[in-house]
Amino acid sequence: MSIELEQPDLVRDVAQVLISEEQIQAKVAELGARLSEDYRDRTLTLVSVLKGSLPFMADLMRAVKVPVRIDLMEVSSYGGSATESSGLVRILKDLSSSIDGRDVLIVEDIIDTGLTLNYLVRYLRGKNPRSLRICTLLDKPARRLVDIAIDYRGFTIPDQFVVGYGLDYGEFYRNLPFIGVLKPEVYTRA
Ligand code: PRP
Repeated sequence: MSIELEQPDLVRDVAQVLISEEQIQAKVAELGARLSEDYRDRTLTLVSVLKGSLPFMADLMRAVKVPVRIDLMEVSSYGGSATESSGLVRILKDLSSSIDGRDVLIVEDIIDTGLTLNYLVRYLRGKNPRSLRICTLLDKPARRLVDIAIDYRGFTIPDQFVVGYGLDYGEFYRNLPFIGVLKPEVYTRA
């Protein structure tokens, strides 16, 4: 379901900064260093799941010191509501290149129910990568419906509606440089 926000106020609509820009950048550097070590002497294919992971992908790829290829996928869940996913996933944009025999890392902004990644992991495994791991900036375990083995995790967050650094509500707020908690009145009035 799409929501039409009339005039989002990027400052007033945020109740609280949950993770600051500085904390995000420090975590990205830490994850980049770990990946550089774990994939030493290898090349890595980063697969970003649009649109939410765009800022994380852009920062993370520059924090990784081994040679990387990048690819982009865009998926959306069928049905459900603006804040709940239905579990059925539709591929809006597929990989551009083969990942056969490659070391692949899925780059996500958030794992919530886990349904999107549960689908994507099965889909990408079918393409015969040499290895397939998952890196997510945010993990919201309170809402998990399916088990997901997360290899690289930035922050574990409580069950709050978060926006910023790629995460949206009604397609807005993605350009905030921090992760903030949206005021409930913003999503209850839509
Ligand atoms: C978000 C996020 C994940 C998914 C996680 O994407 O980027 O892909 O939801 O939720 P899940 O664990 O409950 O499946 P969204 O569908 O909001 O699209 P977007 O990235 O384009 O905002």
